Amino acid sequence: MSMRMRKKRNFDARMEACGDLLLAKGANGILNMKEAAENYRALINFPAAFGNDNPVALEIGCGKGGFVIALAKTTPDVNYLALEKMSNVILTPMEEVKKQGVENVRFLNIRAECLPCYIPENSLDVIYLNFSTPLPKLGYATQRLTHRNFLEVYKKLLKKGGKIIQKTDDRDFFDFSLEEYKACGFALEEVSYNLHENGNPQWNIVTEYEQKWVERGLPIHRAVAKLSLEAD
Ligand SMILES: C[S@@+](CC[C@H](N)C(=O)[O-])C[C@H]1O[C@@H](n2cnc3c(N)ncnc32)[C@H](O)[C@@H]1O
Repeated sequence: MSMRMRKKRNFDARMEACGDLLLAKGANGILNMKEAAENYRALINFPAAFGNDNPVALEIGCGKGGFVIALAKTTPDVNYLALEKMSNVILTPMEEVKKQGVENVRFLNIRAECLPCYIPENSLDVIYLNFSTPLPKLGYATQRLTHRNFLEVYKKLLKKGGKIIQKTDDRDFFDFSLEEYKACGFALEEVSYNLHENGNPQWNIVTEYEQKWVERGLPIHRAVAKLSLEAD
């Protein structure tokens, strides 16, 4: 069997059945944020998309969505955007949100590189990066989701005082990320190299990948990087 995941059964019909939750799809040809920002604009109107004016948070690379769905249920007064590039993967949380009737989650089936096409500037309170694909530093640094090219875009999309909250098991990627946050003017508010040292903190929502790594005894790293409240 090939390495590629087989398409889920009745994929197209199932995607369509959740279509009202999907705010953006595709633009897969665009691989570069500069190109994305310059060539295409389809900014989402959040109050129209969610039916209210509540603050908006974004998870980049939501995978099967256990984190964002649990978080959305505990904080119904926050709206969540769950971004995932793989359509075969994003179908799972979309169906779950439908099934559970969670009202404050919408989906973006796009690459993170395309964010400037869809997200208005100065509009997000928090960006969650949970176990982003670490990618080797050598040769792939610019594709890491915490490379300064991405951080400069996140900075525009976040409100003043907005935060990035990152978790990863990869120490090299974590150290790289901390340097990038500092270089881009984020203040490191919380940094932990072993989040589960004394068991899972009661406030922490464990993601699918986190569960896997914790079971194997790997330390989980977490950082909160905050933008200043002052204008630049
Ligand atoms: C290692 S998984 C982690 C999934 C989930 N956040 C968790 O913690 O269980 C990383 C996910 O990010 C997605 N991803 C990686 N690079 C991306 C990109 N540039 N844009 C959007 N999604 C991306 C992958 O498809 C994958 O589903």
